[in-house]
Amino acid sequence: MRISVLNGPNLNLLGSREPEIYGGATLEAIEVMVRAAAGPLGCDVAWFQSNHEGALVDAIQARPQSADGLILYAGAYTHTSGALRDALLAVKIPFVEVHLSNVFARDAIRHQSLMADLAVGVVAGFGPEGYVMALQGLYRALS
Ligand code: DQA
Repeated sequence: MRISVLNGPNLNLLGSREPEIYGGATLEAIEVMVRAAAGPLGCDVAWFQSNHEGALVDAIQARPQSADGLILYAGAYTHTSGALRDALLAVKIPFVEVHLSNVFARDAIRHQSLMADLAVGVVAGFGPEGYVMALQGLYRALS
C-alpha cells in the first residue's frame, strides 16, 4: 500500500514553533516515526512538505497515480483553502486529516475545516502520535 503524507505551511518549523502547543518533535523526527510504523504494515511512505498552497494542490492532483491514500496535515490551509478542498474533490483519493493540537479547544478560526467532511477520518490533539493513528486508520480503511 502506498501512502503519501502531505504537510503544509509552517510545519517545517515544528520543534521550535510554539512548542507549548505543538511539542518539541521536528517534522523530520515525525517522518522517522511514521516510516517505522509503516514498515510492519507493508506500507510505502512518500513524504512531502510545502508552505505553498499551489504546491499542495499539485501534490494532491498527482497522488492518485502514485499513492493509494493520503495523510493530510494541511495546517492553517485546513481552515481557509477552497483550492485544497476542490483538489480533494477532483481526485477522490481517500485521506485522513491530521492536527497535532486539539483544534476544537483553541480559537474559533480553527474550529472549521474545509475538508474534514471529505475525509475517511480526522485525528486531532494527540501530537505526533496522531500521524501514526492516521496511518493505522487509513491502512484499515484501505485494506
Ligand atoms: C494545526 C492547527 C492549525 O490551526 C494550525 O494552523 C497549524 C497546526 C495543528 O496541528 O494543530 O498550523 O494543524
